Amino acid sequence: MADDRMARLRERLGGVAFGGDYNPEQWDPAVWREDVELMRRAGVNLVTVGVFAWASLEAEPGVFTFDWLDEVLDLLHSGGIAVDLATPTMAPPVWLSHGHPEVLPVREDGQRFGFGNRLHYDPASPRYREAAARITDAIAARYAQHPSVAMWHLSNEYGPVSWGGASAAAFRDWLRERYGDLEALNDAWYTRFWGQRYTAWEQVEPPEVPRSWSNPTRRLDFLRFASDVLLECFTTERDIVRRYSELPITTNFMRFYRRADYWRWAQEEDVVALDIYPNPGEADSRVAAALNFDLMRSLKGGPWVLMEQAASAVSQWPVNNVKRPGMMRAGSYQAIAHGADTVLFFQWRASRGGHERFHSAMLPHSGTRSRTWREIEALGGELGRIAEVTGATSRADVALVFDWNAWWGLMETHGLPRNDFDYAELETSWYRPLLEAHLAVDLASFESALDGYRCVLVPNAYLVTDAFAQRLARFAEAGGTVVIGFFSGVVDERNQVLQPAYPGAFRQLIGAYIDEYWPARAGESFGVRFASGEEAVADWWQESIELETGAALAEFRNGLLAGRPAVVENRVGEGRVVYVGTRLEASALATLLLDTAHAAGVASVVADAPAQVEATMRSKGGADYLFLINHSETDAAAVRLPRAGVDLLTGAAVSGTLELEPLGVAVVRCG
Ligand code: GLA
Repeated sequence: MADDRMARLRERLGGVAFGGDYNPEQWDPAVWREDVELMRRAGVNLVTVGVFAWASLEAEPGVFTFDWLDEVLDLLHSGGIAVDLATPTMAPPVWLSHGHPEVLPVREDGQRFGFGNRLHYDPASPRYREAAARITDAIAARYAQHPSVAMWHLSNEYGPVSWGGASAAAFRDWLRERYGDLEALNDAWYTRFWGQRYTAWEQVEPPEVPRSWSNPTRRLDFLRFASDVLLECFTTERDIVRRYSELPITTNFMRFYRRADYWRWAQEEDVVALDIYPNPGEADSRVAAALNFDLMRSLKGGPWVLMEQAASAVSQWPVNNVKRPGMMRAGSYQAIAHGADTVLFFQWRASRGGHERFHSAMLPHSGTRSRTWREIEALGGELGRIAEVTGATSRADVALVFDWNAWWGLMETHGLPRNDFDYAELETSWYRPLLEAHLAVDLASFESALDGYRCVLVPNAYLVTDAFAQRLARFAEAGGTVVIGFFSGVVDERNQVLQPAYPGAFRQLIGAYIDEYWPARAGESFGVRFASGEEAVADWWQESIELETGAALAEFRNGLLAGRPAVVENRVGEGRVVYVGTRLEASALATLLLDTAHAAGVASVVADAPAQVEATMRSKGGADYLFLINHSETDAAAVRLPRAGVDLLTGAAVSGTLELEPLGVAVVRCG
């Protein structure tokens, strides 16, 4: 169903979707006309309308004003521009917040979050849900058949969490559902420690203050609940809209967003959408962007929607650098290279006031006499050349495990041997060498099927499910290659240490046990020598590893663990498992991961290209499209093409070595 809906949308748009958030309620009707004219000039074919329009559509409870939106949608339609129509439920009007303060969320410190921001709702509040359902129903009923509407955008960046009020009650219901009876909860939460045993459901509350010494499983369950309760807001709106419309329904995800398990969310959507704001002041920000893009593609295993990016600067950091000439174009193609079929921005026209008045826009404050506009117009004019790429998918031999339960266990529950883990950074540090060596990578969750991959990488899975541990073992036994990072396989889903320790889940797999985890002292580093003779430096973390069936692939050279294994290799069935028991310096980690992947038969997309060039392949109906993006702002790059073909952007036949100018892009349909 979802695939059919997306196929129809692709057919309707006839190529890459180009456009952005359009907030006409901020402007006079005369400006709307100019907007449509300029959108046409820029090649815009899809805009998201209504994200923040609740107060303009329902100024008083139950009293709707739709005339202005009717006019806007008619105008857009007459200009040939399709609409991704939003429900405005992220930003409730003042009558709701002030009339029913119980809809406001309670922060972790017990303070109520007030009106005058956005995301000021408790997702479990029945009053909020009732009001959100009413406006959703009214919008869907009125516009489902409007010819401009092409897809639905529910709410915006779902994110609020409330630690009090309705959420506290909903948390108890969620726990009842999960555990059935209180004894099961007491067991799961290990409440015999510190005498935390509950004797009635009413006694169970959300964990209050961050970083306090509270029960780690209570924290973990609250994170699971917080994701689920928000997802209920999404599915409630989705079900309302679906009663009126068969068009695709989505919402926009955020980069490395901890509070929503996007694997679960993606199953409820027709298509996955992402907002991404790589910091143009940080040369490296493209690496995390690529990882997030691959994650989006993997969530549903197909094309996704780049819902928002900045045309130039954002306004959310202490210093907001511009995207220099060419960066916006390169970043847009980067998303397409990793599976996006859309290039959308926040926002179409720069706002004159409000918090984001300096956030760049497709149409900046200086209007069409601006560099950004010229770059937008050029990109909009160019995207038609790659229309045939939409719908194309990609395949990878490497799966990188990225799972929200692992993330929550590691970073949100405290009381660990060290409490400054950064899951996203760990994942990125393993992903980077793969990206720079031009290997195609899928992301996988604990639930993902692993067959079909040659190599599965687990940078960290402190918390692990039985089912995943078993699937990983079967994958190795059947001939797969697995690499596991330190402090993995330690606890079960209840955050309880698996026995026999450590790592209870992976002990047989890695062929060793860990007597103790040894976080490094401040400033401490260690020499490591690989069996190959190569030397490296490690820091931050050590483990005292006792070999069982495994062998040392590398040993510590100095310190109290000198001569003991730092990296272990184990043969399991037909497969190979490598366990990395320390934090290797980046170059050594890269060598280890790439050597292991290559030994497993994983091939690069291009054999010979500099690290700053990104290379991916998308395929459709027998055609292969090679994307090459040179992220260097200063250096040209030469790439040896695996096959001859046609660069769709220039129309030129290409073969042998292709030269990319700084920030240059090529999309080669391979012959
Ligand atoms: C997010 C939001 C937008 C806007 C942008 C830019 O992605 O969805 O409304 O605030 O950030 O900051």
